[in-house]
Amino acid sequence: MRIAGNTILITGGGSGIGAALARRFHDLGNTVVVAGRRMAALEQVTAGHPRMHAIPLDIEDADSIAGFAKRIIAEHPELNVLINNAGIMRSEGLDRSRDLADAEATVVTNLLGPIRLTDALVEQLIARPDAALINVSSGLAFVPLTLAPTYSATKAAIHSYTVSLREVLRGKVEVIELVPPAVQTELTPGQATRQGYLPLNDFIDEVMALFQRQPTPREILVQRVAFQRNAEAEHRFDEALTTLNAMARKALEAQA
Ligand SMILES: NC(=O)c1ccc[n+]([C@@H]2O[C@H](COP(=O)([O-])OP(=O)(O)OC[C@H]3O[C@@H](n4cnc5c(N)ncnc54)[C@H](OP(=O)(O)O)[C@@H]3O)[C@@H](O)[C@H]2O)c1
Repeated sequence: MRIAGNTILITGGGSGIGAALARRFHDLGNTVVVAGRRMAALEQVTAGHPRMHAIPLDIEDADSIAGFAKRIIAEHPELNVLINNAGIMRSEGLDRSRDLADAEATVVTNLLGPIRLTDALVEQLIARPDAALINVSSGLAFVPLTLAPTYSATKAAIHSYTVSLREVLRGKVEVIELVPPAVQTELTPGQATRQGYLPLNDFIDEVMALFQRQPTPREILVQRVAFQRNAEAEHRFDEALTTLNAMARKALEAQA
C-alpha cells in the first residue's frame, strides 16, 4: 500500500483504533476524512489539522450511507483508501430466549454497514490510482468469545467477505484485513483500562510498522493476535477457545 499522498476515509474515526489510525496516517502525509455519528468526537480528532475532515455517518442506516457516499465523492474526488473500522460489541447470553435487538444491531453495523459502504464506494476506488480497502475484523473472527457470539460471527463474516473482495479486486484495489487482538479502547464498558488488553499506542505502533512494509501484508497481524489467527492452522483451536474464554471471564471478574 502506498503510505503517503492518499485520501483516506476512516469510519469510526472519532475514537479508539479509528482515531489513532487517523492521526498516524495524517502525520505520514495523507489527507484523512473521519466519519461517525458523534460529530463532537470527530471534530476533536480533526481540530487544528487542515488535512483532516469530519463528515457525519450512521453506518446502521442505508440512507445515511447513500447520502454520505455522494457527499464524500463530491467533496473529496481524490478519495482512494477506505478503512471500514466502525463497529459495536455487545455481550449476549445464548442460554435463554432473549430480545435480539443487540444481535440485529451488531449484524447491521458490523457486517451490513461495511458491505453497503464498500458497495457505494467500490467504483470510486477502482477509478483511483493506488487504491486500497482495509477492513477491520478481529482475533474473535478466528476464535470466538462466547460472551459476544454475534459480534464474533460478524467478524468471521468480515474475514470471509474480505477474502472475496481481495480476489475480485486483484490488480484494481489492494485489499487488506486489519485483525486487532483485545486492545484498550472504549469499545465495551471498562475496556479502556482492562488488564491484559494491549495499550492502544503499543497496538498502533506495531500496526503502522506493518502498514509501512512493502509490499504491505494482506493481513495486518500484530504479534498478540497470532494466538487466535493461527489456532486452527496449528491444530490448537479447542485449547485456544477454552483459554481465550477463561481469560476473558477472569479479566471481567477482576473489574467487577
Ligand atoms: N478494541 C478491541 O479490543 C478490538 C478488537 C478487535 C477488533 N476491534 C474492532 O476495531 C474497530 C474499532 O473499535 P474500537 O476498539 O476503536 O472501539 P470504539 O472506540 O468504540 O470505536 C468504534 C467506532 O465505531 C463508530 N460507530 C459505532 N457505530 C456506528 C454507526 N452506527 N455509524 C457510524 N459509526 C459507528 C463509533 O463512533 P460513533 O459512536 O460516533 O458513531 C466509534 O468511533 C471495531 O470494528 C471493533 O470491532 C476492536
